[in-house]
Amino acid sequence: MTNDYILIKKSSPLNGTVEILGAKNAVLVIMTSLILTDGVSVLENVPNNADVQLMIKLLQDLGALVEFDVREKSMRVDTSGINAYEVKPEIMNKMRASILVMGPLLARFGKAKVAFPGGDLIGLRPINYHLEGFKQLGVSVQLSDLFVEVQLSTSQPPYTRIALEYPSVGATENLLMFASLGNNETVIINAALEPEVLDLIAILQKMGAHIQILPGAIIIIKGVGRLKPVHHTIVPDRLEAGALLLATAITGGSLTIPNARPDHLDVFLDKLKKMGHHITTGFDCAERIPQGITLRATQHPQAISIKTGPYPGFPTDLQPSMMAALCLAEGTSTIEETVYENRMLHTKELAKMGAQITVNGTIATIRGVEALYGCDVIASDIRASCALVLAGFVAFGQTKMTGVHHWKRGYDQLEVKLSALGGNIQLIHEELNVSENQKIAQTLPS
Ligand code: UD1
Repeated sequence: MTNDYILIKKSSPLNGTVEILGAKNAVLVIMTSLILTDGVSVLENVPNNADVQLMIKLLQDLGALVEFDVREKSMRVDTSGINAYEVKPEIMNKMRASILVMGPLLARFGKAKVAFPGGDLIGLRPINYHLEGFKQLGVSVQLSDLFVEVQLSTSQPPYTRIALEYPSVGATENLLMFASLGNNETVIINAALEPEVLDLIAILQKMGAHIQILPGAIIIIKGVGRLKPVHHTIVPDRLEAGALLLATAITGGSLTIPNARPDHLDVFLDKLKKMGHHITTGFDCAERIPQGITLRATQHPQAISIKTGPYPGFPTDLQPSMMAALCLAEGTSTIEETVYENRMLHTKELAKMGAQITVNGTIATIRGVEALYGCDVIASDIRASCALVLAGFVAFGQTKMTGVHHWKRGYDQLEVKLSALGGNIQLIHEELNVSENQKIAQTLPS
């Protein structure tokens, strides 16, 4: 048994240049999309985090062969041996994203059986939009306490319009993948268009799918008979970029991320500017895409108000880290969380460190303070773990964060990057029931 934790100490301003990896939220769904193909695909720029490892296990359980060269960030997936359509509860329970196998398994086998993912700490996170969409596409759904079973009926409608009540990322992705294979035409209205969804669409198009995006968040999918294996580079992780930029902002430093996409972070970057930080962005003339972000932090950050929302709104996944940065801003900030009903658990931990935050439902009011103080804190989810690390960089003394499995789920050795930029951070791997001198401080090479 192990008991890992992260130790963070007050740090000097973060400075330097760093590259980001592929987006976790893109690679997970893209890995499931390979079920739609028969053969060997290669994915590049793949982060090695606990969720990716779990998705590898899931694909292997279904019969795929997966080789992941962690050093090269390159993954080879051979899907020709996939012969199962059931996902074990022990995998489903650990990672909600495993629900994203449903659409591809339905398309490949006409059926799928997965354990019910349930809710988590940040909210109930039901899957009703996924299931309602499938039903409209001619799929029968059977629910029990533990399992969701879906099966294609013999009569599928040739043309279906699905209007999502909310632009759910997961529902859009599941429906997109299912609709890509077959004879029918599907229109998704009020679709999610997050950069990770667009990356999924890009790989599906490379496979041979007929997908068109129309203004007004409408996606039209014309099913095809076969999708072929592909070579694809995962889109850079806007959430890793956001975490690094906020770590630099909070410590008053300067950072360049040459491969970050500013057009994936417009509202977020605008809010950093409103706080007083200097942001410059680049443009890759060869690729014709905005690329590269530099932040030079103000020493006097100002309070702001933010409201999270679906893309292109302020990303909910950067809300906790932004809150950490606002704890030391001059004035009173407000944050309204509109995506998850319970994504305020980090406020209690930040308050332990001296932050002045009051929460009323889904609205937090943050009164800027002069200083934070290190103490023992517990990470409740992936993005909360990032917020607590950032707060630890500016807190006097030492912060010990437990709940490190959340950090490992979302980030590929982000502690190593932060440390190289000047952050005082160590991931400690502690074997339980062993003496103190067997503690191993890990500052792993990247
Ligand atoms: C994905 C991301 C997650 C991010 C979220 C919103 C992955 C692996 N995860 O999660 O990091 O925070 O998008 O940007 O890509 N909802 C329903 N019924 C449904 C589906 C969703 O009520 O059938 C609700 C959820 O409870 C939540 C909101 O809609 O409150 C947004 O969920 P959704 O966009 O589906 O997020 P995920 O795909 O789960």
